[in-house]
Amino acid sequence: MTAPKKLFIKTYGCQMNVYDSERMAEALGGQGYVETKSPDDADMILLNTCHIREKAAEKVYSELGRFKGLKAANPDLKIGVAGCVAQAEGEEIMRRQPLVDLVVGPQSYHRLPALEARARGGEKALDTDFPEDDKFETLKSRPRATRGPTAFLTVQEGCDKFCAFCVVPYTRGAEVSRPAERILSEARDLVERGVREISLLGQNVNAYHGAGADGDWSLARLIWALNGIDGLERIRFTTSHPNDMTDDLISAHGECEKLMPYLHLPVQSGSDRILKRMNRSHTAESYLRLIERIRAARPDILMSGDFIVGFPEETEADFQATLDLIEQVRYGYAYSFKYSTRPGTPAAERAQVDPEAASERLQRLQALITRHQQEIQQEMVGREVSVLYEKPGRLEGQMVGKSEYLHAVHVTDPQARVGDLVRVRIKNSATHSLAGERL
Ligand code: SAH
Ligand code: SF4
Ligand code: F3S
Repeated sequence: MTAPKKLFIKTYGCQMNVYDSERMAEALGGQGYVETKSPDDADMILLNTCHIREKAAEKVYSELGRFKGLKAANPDLKIGVAGCVAQAEGEEIMRRQPLVDLVVGPQSYHRLPALEARARGGEKALDTDFPEDDKFETLKSRPRATRGPTAFLTVQEGCDKFCAFCVVPYTRGAEVSRPAERILSEARDLVERGVREISLLGQNVNAYHGAGADGDWSLARLIWALNGIDGLERIRFTTSHPNDMTDDLISAHGECEKLMPYLHLPVQSGSDRILKRMNRSHTAESYLRLIERIRAARPDILMSGDFIVGFPEETEADFQATLDLIEQVRYGYAYSFKYSTRPGTPAAERAQVDPEAASERLQRLQALITRHQQEIQQEMVGREVSVLYEKPGRLEGQMVGKSEYLHAVHVTDPQARVGDLVRVRIKNSATHSLAGERL
C-alpha cells in the first residue's frame, strides 16, 4: 500500500466554511489523503477563503506567497484555493499567483477528486460552477469525521437579500434549502457518532424552506423534528435575518426544550436612514419589537448581533442611533466591523465615510458592547447552568464547555469526560469566560 498523501486545509470566514472544509477533507479522503496540521509536509494545501471584507480577501494572497519555498522544495505539492474568494475571483487567482494549481468554488467542491486528478496531471484546474447536482448528496457516502460532541450542519445556503454592502449573494448564489429528510438523516448519523449538540447553519438559516414529505418545512418544523432525536441534547442555529423570524420559530424558543436560549440576529445599524440605504428592509423599531416578542417567548434568551460602522453616508447622528439601539437590546455578544468596500456591490459606488471617523466609531461601539457583555456575564454569577464539555482545560483536572447561552465555562472536574453534559453553578466571570462548580 502506498503511503497516504497529506492534506493541509486552512479555513477562513464563517462557520459555513468550517463545515465545507470538513466535507472537502472527506471528499479528498477518497483519493487517499489524510489531514495534516502543518503545511510543511503537505502534498496538497487548500485555502478555504472568505471574501466578506477586503482584508479577508487580501490575506489569501499573502498566505499563498508564503508557500513559495515549500513548492520549490517539493514540486509535487499542489496548492488550491476554495471558498468565496475562489468564487469571486476565479481564474484571476492563478494569474495573480501562478503557484496556484486548483481553484474551486463553494458550490462545486464535491468535484474536488476530479479536479485534484487534473492538477496532479499538471493542468491548472478550475471549477466555479453552480451545478445542478446536489453536492451534499454526492458526498453523502463519505463517512463524516467528527471531532467532538458538537457539530455544524448546513441546512440552507446562499442569499436573495442583496444587502447593499454584501458579497454573499454573489459568492454563494441564490438561496437554496436542503430537503428535510436528508438533514435529519445526517443529524441521526452525527448523533450515532457521539454528537450531542448540532448547530444548523445557513447564510439565512431562518429562511429555511426545505422540501418535506408533505410540502415545504420551516426551520421551526425542522427543529421540532430534531428535538425528537434521542441522544441529541442541544440545537442551535445561525445566522438569522430579522425579516425571517416567523411566529413558529419564536414560539419554538419558548417551547422546544432542546433549542438553546441564544439567538444571533444581526441588525447592522440602528438608523432607519442607513438601514434603508443598506437595503435591509427592516427598521430599528421593527427590530426592537421583534426582540420584545422573542423575549416574551423566552425571557432569558441571550442576544447577539452584527454591526457595520462607517457605512457610506453614515453621520454621527446615524451612529448615535446605533448606540441607542444597542443600549436597548443589551447584547451578550456581538461582531462589529468597519464597513469595507466590496467591488461590484451597490454601496461601493457611494460617498465613503472618513476611515478615521469610522475607526473611532467602531471603538466606541465595541466599548459599549464589551460593557454589556461583562455585565451580562456578571449576572450569571450564582446561577445554575448546564455545560457540555468540549475539551480539557489548561489546568489539571479542568474541563471547558459551553453553557446554554454559549458562554465558555471552566469547571474543575477530574472524573469527567469530553461530551458530558453537567449542571454547574457559576462562581465567577473573567474577560472571555466564566468559571463554575459542578453540582
Ligand atoms: N447572513 C448573515 C451574515 C452575513 S456576513 C446576515 O445577514 O447577517 C457576516 C457579517 O459580516 C454581516 O452580518 C455584516 O455585519 C458583515 N459584513 C458583510 N459585508 C460587509 C462589508 N462589506 N463590510 C463590513 N462588514 C460586512
Ligand atoms: Fe449578506 Fe444581507 Fe444576505 Fe446577510 S442577508 S448574507 S448581510 S446580503
Ligand atoms: Fe466569508 Fe463566504 Fe462565509 S464571504 S463569511 S466565507 S459565506
